[in-house]
Amino acid sequence: MSQRVLTGITTTGTPHLGNYVGAIRPAIAASREPGVESFFFLADYHALIKCDDPDRIERSRLEIAATWLAAGLDTSRVTFYRQSDIPEITELNWLLTCVTAKGQMNRAHAYKATVDAAVAAGEEPDANVTMGLYCYPILMAADILLFNAHRVPVGRDQVQHIEMARDVAQRFNHLFGRGKDLFVLPQAEIEESVATLPGLDGRKMSKSYDNTVPLFEGGAKALKDAIARIVTDSKLPGEPKDPEGAHLVTIHDAFADAATRAAFHADLRSGLGWGDAKQRVVQLIEAHVGPMRDRYADLVAHPERIEDILQEGARKARTTATPLLAELRQAVGLRRMVAASQPRTAKEAGAEKSAVPVFKQYREADNLFYFKLTAADGSLLLQSQGFAEGREAGGWVKRFKTEGAAALADAPVTLGEGTDRVAVDAALTALVAAQA
Ligand code: ADP
Ligand code: TRP
Repeated sequence: MSQRVLTGITTTGTPHLGNYVGAIRPAIAASREPGVESFFFLADYHALIKCDDPDRIERSRLEIAATWLAAGLDTSRVTFYRQSDIPEITELNWLLTCVTAKGQMNRAHAYKATVDAAVAAGEEPDANVTMGLYCYPILMAADILLFNAHRVPVGRDQVQHIEMARDVAQRFNHLFGRGKDLFVLPQAEIEESVATLPGLDGRKMSKSYDNTVPLFEGGAKALKDAIARIVTDSKLPGEPKDPEGAHLVTIHDAFADAATRAAFHADLRSGLGWGDAKQRVVQLIEAHVGPMRDRYADLVAHPERIEDILQEGARKARTTATPLLAELRQAVGLRRMVAASQPRTAKEAGAEKSAVPVFKQYREADNLFYFKLTAADGSLLLQSQGFAEGREAGGWVKRFKTEGAAALADAPVTLGEGTDRVAVDAALTALVAAQA
């Protein structure tokens, strides 16, 4: 089975060089590995926890989606979607909330940090805690578990959340799995080899420190101006400089191949001035980022194209999410009502058997697999299209049995003449009852 890799990007703010080097570039590279199925999504429900400015949320979703696409994300290989387009996530969020211990949420770092800050400021401990913040890790577990992700690439600060997702998955499997694992247990993945880029002041580049070099916003000029402000030591041109530990060099090296790095280090040792060095860094990054920035500008100017891409991504994501959620509803007892469980005589059961709707699966001369549903009187209710694989037809039959007529929303079937959704639903209910 292929490995599922999934990660979410919180849509607050504008991407900077650190996000690109530390998250976007490695994720896109990983999505090109064979045997990997990638799910990348805009965590816009998570953004609402931190931000109550609707315009900023809207703008950030657009900028972040455009950034990933401009950076080369291939949406034919990757499932790229918005969290808020997948209603199954909020539904699973509730199922998980009901089996998560409050005590575990009390220990979450993000919540604890907010409490500590309030106490330090002499406020009530929970002064700034919304239920969204408190339950943040459960929503994140729903994001991950709904797609049965094996690997979750994240920053170090997120590791605790992945551990919480594992815990809740384990508890859910134990309570409702009846020996079957409903959820895969996810693993956090931290890229040790990826550099942490320093910001203008030498601390980690972060929007929280206001020390970032923007990736695209503000154009080539903003890039140049930001790089000019990176702190260096005060050695003059002509004096030898130590490339080790210089923030400018760390940023340079994140964009350079081995030969370019070696040449840059050697030139600094033999006295290259910081001003000239900065110019070389600007040129290097501009060569890398410039073409992407043009694509970015084009995308931001056409939000409707991004919207279409995300809608298609949501459709793709839901082909995985919908059947799993149907199974989970079944597992916790949110089941379709079926005929009363009155004991029947053998004769009654036999008589009913001959008069219930049936699914038939068969193969045609075109070598494709089909299924159809016929009513108790033999009339046609549903006719499927042809499938290359028999198990595709089988999968749809199973979905109709668990979901009822709701599966019509995306099933490749046509209704029989003179029939309708209500008749199909009634037939499915009768069929499931007869089989129970
Ligand atoms: P910020 O610190 O600006 O708020 P986020 O916490 O939103 O950034 O991080 C988004 C992603 O970018 C995470 O995967 C994080 O590990 C990565 N990232 C953020 N800053 C850097 C950096 N300076 N160097 C490398 N990766 C970074
Ligand atoms: N909380 C993550 C962050 O701030 C973003 C996120 C939301 C996420 N849901 C996720 C990451 C699921 C990985 C998997 O970085």
